[in-house]
Amino acid sequence: MHEFAADPAQPKPEFYRELVAAADALTAGEPDAIANMANVAALLWQLVPELNWAGFYRAIGDELVLGPFCGKPACIRIPLGQGVCGAAAASKQSQLVGDVTAFPGHIACDSASRSELVVPVLREDVVVAVIDLDAPRPARFDQADLEGIEALAALLSRRI
Ligand code: SME
Repeated sequence: MHEFAADPAQPKPEFYRELVAAADALTAGEPDAIANMANVAALLWQLVPELNWAGFYRAIGDELVLGPFCGKPACIRIPLGQGVCGAAAASKQSQLVGDVTAFPGHIACDSASRSELVVPVLREDVVVAVIDLDAPRPARFDQADLEGIEALAALLSRRI
């Protein structure tokens, strides 16, 4: 249906501009949140190099509930404040974790994960979901990845 081809070898700011544009094209005009999260999870998996998990947890009540993702089956419910995802949701701040084994309370869904980036998706200052990326290499993510995924989260604020 759609062919997207961002070049992972290009500078990260350009790569993420193209990724956000692709996510925009995929979700524009579609009101169904699950469909949009599913397509964006697939897009992240297809385009972002060196991942072993990419997807969403949705904020429902006082916990995060597994949403659309690519990767191995994962933990279904995460209390707010627990693990990297719960910390991002509770603090409304992105979490860039270079070494997951050093993060207090990290939840190991996939034993291959070594580093992780979690970005909250906010709508009118309320967390509606988090975007979770896991990588098998320590320190896989940097500030440019964080800013790129935050731009994606801003786009998705009213689409999920
Ligand atoms: N590692 C996460 C749990 C979710 S999985 O990585 C898919 C955490 O500590 O919140």
